[in-house]
Amino acid sequence: MILIQDRIELEAYLAKLNKGVKIGFVPTMGALHEGHLSLLRAASEQDDVIICSIFVNPTQFNDKSDYDKYPQVLAEDLQLLSQVSVDVVFAPAVDQIYPTGIDTIPYYDIGDLETRYEGEHRPGHFQGVCHILHVFLNMIKPHHLYMGEKDYQQVAVVRKLIELKHHSATLVSCPTLREASGLAMSSRNRLLSPNGLENASAMYRALQYVKHNAGGTEFTTLKKEAYELLKVNGFEPEYLDLCEATNMTPLNDFNHEIPMRLVAAAFIEGVRLIDNIGIG
Ligand code: PAF
Repeated sequence: MILIQDRIELEAYLAKLNKGVKIGFVPTMGALHEGHLSLLRAASEQDDVIICSIFVNPTQFNDKSDYDKYPQVLAEDLQLLSQVSVDVVFAPAVDQIYPTGIDTIPYYDIGDLETRYEGEHRPGHFQGVCHILHVFLNMIKPHHLYMGEKDYQQVAVVRKLIELKHHSATLVSCPTLREASGLAMSSRNRLLSPNGLENASAMYRALQYVKHNAGGTEFTTLKKEAYELLKVNGFEPEYLDLCEATNMTPLNDFNHEIPMRLVAAAFIEGVRLIDNIGIG
């Protein structure tokens, strides 16, 4: 495993690879956990060269204090990465990626995904995600791009980006990894106190509650009950919504003829967590 922090050096490394070598790319913002390792393991099953980026991308943070407190632990990450097969860790500084600053980036037309759920609550977030992935995909030109389903809408956005910008990468979406409590693994979990971590599993329980009662009760009733469950566990819910799984079109109530997705975001101890599960 080699660590590259310079863009030109990465380009030189890539230029030396034999033609036909399959590249698997796992983009991350560091503070790695088992969820990231599972993406890297999936990559090593079908690709020859595995590249993992660690870059806390400033343009995808709509809230400066969220960016400032995002955990940055490169030495710890490199340690963890020694457990899996990774050829290159690309961890550039911000000015390597944004040499002219972070104030303006191109616009990416991702349609309704821009204004729903995460798009609505984190204005500009997906523009930053699209931009960094567009830059990385242009640079690395991977055969496969591995992303976690925990960020369900992000996966949909990146699928759209790949189509929009004609990237050749195939997106591989991998299942969410959970703690024994059900809490979805996330880099943000490390910002919680032990008590917060315990209570945070209520988000998964709230989603499961809605799912298990989807056969007999209307969604609006279950949503109210799920909000209560979140609140008694110290969460401040932002949204808990139901949508079509394939295109994330909002649904007012269950439609058991199609695959659906429950998506949620809520704050606990000032930390914003998201999660989602499928129904049907
Ligand atoms: O999911 C993340 O960690 C980030 O949004 C990503 C995909 C690495 C882009 O910065």
